[in-house]
Amino acid sequence: MPLPGWARSLAGETAALRLRLAARRPSPTPAPDPGNVAVTVRHPAAVDLDRRMPLCKLCELEDWRDPRRVAAIRRCLPYLSAVAADFPRGMEHRKHWEFAQLLAGIEELAALREDGLVLSVGAGHEEPVYELTNRARWVFATDVYGGGRFRSLEGDGRMLVDPDRFARLPYRRDRLVVQWMDGLDLHHEDGTFDVAFSLSSIEHFGGLHAAREALREMARVVRPGGSVAVATECVVNGVAGHRGRGLALFTPGEITELARACPNLELVEPIDFGISPATMGKVKPLSEALLEARRGVTDYPAIVFEHRGRQFTSVFLFLRKRGGDR
Ligand SMILES: C[S@@+](CC[C@H](N)C(=O)[O-])C[C@H]1O[C@@H](n2cnc3c(N)ncnc32)[C@H](O)[C@@H]1O
Repeated sequence: MPLPGWARSLAGETAALRLRLAARRPSPTPAPDPGNVAVTVRHPAAVDLDRRMPLCKLCELEDWRDPRRVAAIRRCLPYLSAVAADFPRGMEHRKHWEFAQLLAGIEELAALREDGLVLSVGAGHEEPVYELTNRARWVFATDVYGGGRFRSLEGDGRMLVDPDRFARLPYRRDRLVVQWMDGLDLHHEDGTFDVAFSLSSIEHFGGLHAAREALREMARVVRPGGSVAVATECVVNGVAGHRGRGLALFTPGEITELARACPNLELVEPIDFGISPATMGKVKPLSEALLEARRGVTDYPAIVFEHRGRQFTSVFLFLRKRGGDR
């Protein structure tokens, strides 16, 4: 049975307080990253605003100048466009960037036809599953709804019985299927979907091994020629990765390894591990960001976070399944 509202908010505040206290405990300085793939801080002049924006990259503040990304963000978050006419200007949040990378990538790669099938893994009640119903035949939103650490947050069990209550944009309700499903054990046939994606989730599945398994599962259920898109955490300050209770922060080397985890998946382009000085200009403690999220207030830009000596942001990977006619 879902928890009542007061209990959910108490659980959320308690979890945030725990994180805050954990953040205050002195933590040993992380060792340098022993890997041979590094994030490079770009020379400011090297940020070419007219460039075609890559799909496989770190989240950067300058990405909000790309008109396609801005259009995708506005489409996914109409309730924010309604309160701020020039949204997302001045409200840069990496979560919105993940939505934009996904939608822009699907468009750019012509990955989805109107009769196509989409799968989201660790979907929660994210906006893209609703938005994609306007572009695909069926969208399957899967998550361990009602269980795990996110049950009072994104993994709210009520999504299973009443997805309308979480919809914040116009969507085709007859094209959304919500399912309880472990991302490590997808109950779908091989080669079913045109696109499988996962946003901000595989880092919560149990470390690098589990993230790799999740990618393999996504690769399995996508048709040859289909797309797998993943946004996850990447450490950007050159230190070793983090494995905590329920959260992994991956190094650039581990991200590269993940991208190569499935022999039947190939990156659509090399990963751009560059990050701009402006992006690195503001680093927020993760505990603060979580408290802000629970209180519904955000101090923007919300792009780079810090937890136990690791500064990190989102990295996006777009992969294609080998075979097929595309
Ligand atoms: C940070 S939330 C992200 C939710 C959503 N993708 C978004 O971007 O808003 C992580 C999600 O992963 C889900 N999750 C954790 N472990 C999972 C697993 N083994 N299989 C499927 N989902 C899982 C959680 O329930 C939660 O909804």
